[in-house]
Amino acid sequence: MKKPENLILVIFGASGDLTKRKLIPEVYELHRQNLLPEKFAVLGVSRTKMTDNEFQDKLVGSIKTFGEVTDESDLNEFKRKLFYLSIDVASPGDYSKVKSRLLELGSDSGPEKNYIFYLSTPPSLYDTIPHFLAGQGLNSQKEGWKRLVIEKPFGYDYQSAHQLNNSLLTEWQEDQIYRIDHYLGKETVQNLLVTRFSNGIFEPLWNRNYVHHVEITNAENLGIESRGGYYEGTGALRDMVQNHLLQLLALVAMEPPSSFDSNAVRNEKLKVFQSLRPLSETDIYTNIIRGQYLASTIKGEKAKGYRDEANVINCSKTETYVAMKFFIDNWRWSGVPFYIRTGKRLPIRVTEIVIYFNPSPHILFTKESGMDMASNQLIIRIQPDEGILLKFGMKVPGAGFKVQEVGMDFHYSQ
Ligand code: BG6
Repeated sequence: MKKPENLILVIFGASGDLTKRKLIPEVYELHRQNLLPEKFAVLGVSRTKMTDNEFQDKLVGSIKTFGEVTDESDLNEFKRKLFYLSIDVASPGDYSKVKSRLLELGSDSGPEKNYIFYLSTPPSLYDTIPHFLAGQGLNSQKEGWKRLVIEKPFGYDYQSAHQLNNSLLTEWQEDQIYRIDHYLGKETVQNLLVTRFSNGIFEPLWNRNYVHHVEITNAENLGIESRGGYYEGTGALRDMVQNHLLQLLALVAMEPPSSFDSNAVRNEKLKVFQSLRPLSETDIYTNIIRGQYLASTIKGEKAKGYRDEANVINCSKTETYVAMKFFIDNWRWSGVPFYIRTGKRLPIRVTEIVIYFNPSPHILFTKESGMDMASNQLIIRIQPDEGILLKFGMKVPGAGFKVQEVGMDFHYSQ
């Protein structure tokens, strides 16, 4: 893999949970794999007062907890790339400090003026921060490129997402804006494209003539943890479906792109979304189920119900589970139902896509087999136990024609 150009990664919301649990441990992982640019720095920006040293020590602690450290001296080298700036992000005047700190970090032998601004902040700041950065000319690509990474939720509904988009696009170019979806970084999700488009055997079957239905499941056994404040205003549909699960749906349903280029892939995904059959008011009752987890006992331990979680109102109607049936009205998928479901505090943790193929047109062995050989299945396991499983019927060796379902199973771990 080619190393990226020199750059500074500016993280807004640097004292928050995402920075410590995910962002910095992963950036350290890039360092460990020697995939960071020659000249690289992280500038953490938040309201909390902290010195560079305090920030570095705090993040070294999180890397040890949430990341993998094999060499302390390597970690020390990485630590020296971390810097911190405390500002009031809601105050435009404070952004001159961001600019001068960036210039300071970029001087001498530091990185050039390529900046990634990662907004790991409450959504209410998603248009404020880019606007104030632009006020300092930090959107200008005259010297070096500038990119914005925006976390979800991108707007609350169609209208607010449009507003946010329009507001960003007044000062930033579309190709500077990255609306991040961490599912696209998952090995198995990336592998979906490879499975479909680098093999000759799957694609001919990948359509309404052979596929009976498709199921996309994300089951989590954890509850909302300490995220009541966020989740209560979001719910499963906005937290998981409109982003992660629709990305999976698009990867399963899209046409082969003409090249492996971001625009070509994006255009094919867009066509899938444009073909989703809109749900009428009656469809909402027949095609969607919403639910909420109740208090329970799991392996002897008491678990709270959703309404008892901190920062959740006791008559909350926010869904923690949603299951939906979709149709994609295009040539390939006409009449094939797609089922999507996701929920918190379910019995197991699994994310998977199951393609159910049509049964054989005339079933010879059902009576004898004693099992329902209704359908071959291709199961793409996103997590855990990443892999792919193809299920089909085989004769049980010996007299008679007993049929048993068996699997051809590939595990990434092997
Ligand atoms: C996040 C959601 O985007 O994805 C969480 O906000 C959810 O609620 C998480 O738990 C699931 O991600 P993963 O990678 O564990 O499947």
